[in-house]
Amino acid sequence: MNVESLLHDRLAPALEAVAGHPVDPVVRSSPHADFQSGAPLALARELGRPPREIAAEVAAKADLSGISDVEVSGPGFLNLTVSDSLLTAALKATALDDRLGVPRTGNPHRIVIDYSGPNVAKEMHVGHLRSTIIGDALARTAEWLGHDVIRVNHLGDWGTPFGMLVEHLTDLGGDAEHSISDLTAFYQAARVKFDGDEDFRTRARLRVVALQSGDPVSRELWRKLVAQSERYFLDVYHRLGVTLGPDDFAGESRYQGDLDGIVAELGEKGLLTESDGALCAFPDGFTGRDGVPLPLIVRKADGGYGYAATDLAALRHRVGLGGQRLLYVVGAPQRIHFAMVFAVARAAGWLPDGVIAEHIGFGSILGADGKMLKTRAGDTVKLAELLDEAVGRASAPEIGIGAIKYADLSGDRRGDYVFDFDRMLAITGNTGPYLQMAHARVRSIFRKAGAEPGPVTIAEPAERALALALLGFEAAVTVAAEQAEPHRLAVYLHDLAQAFSVFYERCPVLRAEPDVRASRLGLADLTARTLHTGMFLLGIEAPDEI
Ligand code: ARG
Repeated sequence: MNVESLLHDRLAPALEAVAGHPVDPVVRSSPHADFQSGAPLALARELGRPPREIAAEVAAKADLSGISDVEVSGPGFLNLTVSDSLLTAALKATALDDRLGVPRTGNPHRIVIDYSGPNVAKEMHVGHLRSTIIGDALARTAEWLGHDVIRVNHLGDWGTPFGMLVEHLTDLGGDAEHSISDLTAFYQAARVKFDGDEDFRTRARLRVVALQSGDPVSRELWRKLVAQSERYFLDVYHRLGVTLGPDDFAGESRYQGDLDGIVAELGEKGLLTESDGALCAFPDGFTGRDGVPLPLIVRKADGGYGYAATDLAALRHRVGLGGQRLLYVVGAPQRIHFAMVFAVARAAGWLPDGVIAEHIGFGSILGADGKMLKTRAGDTVKLAELLDEAVGRASAPEIGIGAIKYADLSGDRRGDYVFDFDRMLAITGNTGPYLQMAHARVRSIFRKAGAEPGPVTIAEPAERALALALLGFEAAVTVAAEQAEPHRLAVYLHDLAQAFSVFYERCPVLRAEPDVRASRLGLADLTARTLHTGMFLLGIEAPDEI
């Protein structure tokens, strides 16, 4: 039983009676009462009547069973306090449910989530960390709610750098496996040659042509590079507890065969303009600083296809898979790129009205100096080394990894944040280790003999506050999924852990009388299960003991 939706059902008929048409009661939890409805305010504006009068009329007309107090407050809010018997009934139903009262959605969607997307033959860096962590939390949550999630790892596995890389691999001859065992060193060596050796540059260019026209030897070497990178990425995902697997790789190369068709169709639809030899789309409403229309370059002047063409083909493909919601978890700097890709796809008819495409952007990870995170030497920070350091400092992998993931997920994704090991590993404050400790602490209560949870009764304010917090789980999960904002769930879990800690301080559990003790153990058990499930949805481990 969901308390918010029960209140919603109580208020909706009364609002409709006053308005003459259905009105959403917009019930929200509130610091002034258990819940609050702001609907009378909007309705008063519509009817041209005093809001407090409307609120009083709604309160008088509503069925108030389960509501112990309703009060008109402020400019015309309705403050609602639910009865303790309703709370205990709701907790009882929640305790009996494996899913903690959160039903699988009655309206499942096919959601395609594009996340991680690292580049082949390059070390994954911190820029891919956020996409990987946020995307995985979204995938886990949507899947748990009953949606049909397709994970897509849009690897950068195609394009001009591969001419240079394959040519370098050819030069080394012999054992390819061995030469690329350290991909970063391999990439850097190829780069140095490319920058310094005219002859190599020419060969690299010819190699791109060979590769793209399907030359078997070039293809085979390219495939080795991709396979080696995929092994490395999977290893990182495994360490991170990220649910991306080998079947989720769908790199840029997969769409190469579709690109001629993309250009032909855009051309037929009159959506392409030639500009300095390149074929560009100029979707409406995109202009640069000087008011000049911005181009989306679909085919470059040299005839090659780039990032945008591939994204158009990938989008069309995902719609073809039956995707109803397409999420792109990619950093904020690519905001305009995706807005333009979506606009061109809509104009071309590849993105039907019922399908939603969203760029799930996020801010940067900053160093202590407030600039983009870099090593002391000024290089990009390698992801693997970052994870090693976190685990080393935390002295347990699940704590170190959990700390990094929670630090990434606990703030609004749109903002930047400073990467600070000391802060994210602290066991107090809004951190992963704090949540893990809170969960383990609750579990530890149950290791005492005879500690069995029983039916919950509510007497103390701290019990009531914890009960309300527990019953807020569904709302937190739902909003996190709908808005693609994992921090809503993270903040909720942190608040729940705090409500538990106040409760535990004020309400003795094991020392209480048998009935009270069983009830408090009931609250503790639900707290542990809710923390565990919520952390699972964020992709953070919740060990029973620390
Ligand atoms: N490989 C890209 C990068 O490193 C990210 C890919 C994002 N996904 C997409 N469909 N463009 O920036």
